[in-house]
Amino acid sequence: MDKFYTTTAIDYVNGAPHIGHAYEKILTNVIYRHFTQRVSDPYMLTGVDEHGIKIQKLAQSMGIEPKELCDTNAQKFADAWKRLDINYSQLIRTTSEEHKKTVQKIFKKLIEQGDIYKNSYKGLYCAGCEAFLSDKDLDEEGCCLIHKKKPEEVSEENYFFKLTKYKQRIIDHIKQNPDFIVPSFRANEVLNQLENIEDISVSRAKTNVSWGIDVLDDPEQVIYVWIDALSNYITALGYDTENPSEKFKKYWPAEVQVIGKDILKFHSIYWLALLMALDIELPKHLLAHGWITIDEAKMSKSLGNVVSPDSVMDSFNLEEPDALRYYMATAAPCGKDGNYSDDDFKEKVNAHLANSMGNLLNRTLSMLVKYFDGEIKPEFVQKSPLFDDAIQAIKEVKHHFDYFEVSEAAQKIVELVDKTNKYVTDNAPWTLAKEEKMTECGVVLYTVLEIMCVISSLIYPYCPNIATKMASQLKYDINTKLDDIKIENIKTGKLISKEEIVPVFLRLDSELADKSKKK
Ligand code: MSP
Repeated sequence: MDKFYTTTAIDYVNGAPHIGHAYEKILTNVIYRHFTQRVSDPYMLTGVDEHGIKIQKLAQSMGIEPKELCDTNAQKFADAWKRLDINYSQLIRTTSEEHKKTVQKIFKKLIEQGDIYKNSYKGLYCAGCEAFLSDKDLDEEGCCLIHKKKPEEVSEENYFFKLTKYKQRIIDHIKQNPDFIVPSFRANEVLNQLENIEDISVSRAKTNVSWGIDVLDDPEQVIYVWIDALSNYITALGYDTENPSEKFKKYWPAEVQVIGKDILKFHSIYWLALLMALDIELPKHLLAHGWITIDEAKMSKSLGNVVSPDSVMDSFNLEEPDALRYYMATAAPCGKDGNYSDDDFKEKVNAHLANSMGNLLNRTLSMLVKYFDGEIKPEFVQKSPLFDDAIQAIKEVKHHFDYFEVSEAAQKIVELVDKTNKYVTDNAPWTLAKEEKMTECGVVLYTVLEIMCVISSLIYPYCPNIATKMASQLKYDINTKLDDIKIENIKTGKLISKEEIVPVFLRLDSELADKSKKK
């Protein structure tokens, strides 16, 4: 495998990014960065979803044009991802001319081949979901189960997509590819939803929704958000109904498309049907992650508990995002819900990144300077059983990433750190030095430093800044591909001087955390 294409959902720009949006982008970026260590040509797409009634109404209420609102808020997403060191390859905006043009062509093609037809429609539309709801989506009071609001009664002429035509193929695909939906327990949910699917409305009358992409040759109709939004994954690569770009041919199909569990239905049913209609290969996997709650409560504007990645970074005075990346990426087992709390954040990153990992490197390098003036002597270079543990850890981490188990992979790294700490405690190099068993002491330090090279590579996708600082003190090339790691990275001779030793991660200050709680 030499290419790896991964995507995130594209976020609605009706506000600033919160920690739930950040969770998904971090998760995807950790996967992407891991695969930069394995393939030559990885590509990560993220983006913003800018059309629809929600944006239109919000802009109206603010007395501005929708495009102005989109420009302002799209920038907030781009800024947030930059601050979190999410080094995506591309951020697509659905208001871009290229995207709009391709979506129009896709729509036209589907009308021409009979997959899209016009019909009059009466239904209940939820602006929160940007979707028509059926009885199953409503509570006893007739409110949307997710948004708790009464949907709007809509009666219009709409274009419809023949979803039912693809029902059986989708069912077969999901059944024949049990690893298509990750985690696999969600596949049953989708199969149940497929039981009752109907053709779906894919346009809105312009009199009701004007902020969207016009249907070509039918100026009264606007393409309704999901066809517009879902197409981003291919329009970004330069897909074209007649003449797909080289970039599209190179990267598509995606290895993994990362989305929240709330939009799995749109991706595992609508998206597959759309690709089938266009005769395009299907993505290899859909990773449906769980939701992030705040102090165990659902995040919502009305509860006033929306946490932004900026507010966490600011309240803890973080110059680098590694701690937040690590915390979010390990917030939940694959596909399950997770939680953010200030106390837990502080505790976990202090324990894992400062006390266990950072201190281990710092103490070892300090001892090397104290006892050997920073020098690795040839007699220190000896094989250790711990090397086998490190090789095993690389294998296990890769294995978890093959299944997009980001948090589980991190657990393997923590285990390797713990084992190495235990090795230091058991062998007590300070006692060996006191007893003047200098070679034995040197062997212990050398062994730990070799393992730290592996740890820096493994932690890199989560904590790129910390990993780079570790590697630079070890004179190790952080760009080493995982398959090329040999446990012979530490060279004999002078490795480091006292002045070069820097802590890779400073403990989070408890006062700062308490302050952020009171905010
Ligand atoms: N625009 C659509 C997606 C279109 S993809 C072709 C959308 N946007 S959204 O802004 O509402 O959500 C974007 C992503 O953020 C979704 O995958 C959603 O699941 C995720 N999250 C939004 N809130 C979240 C949490 N509280 N926790 C984790 N992820 C959540 O849906």
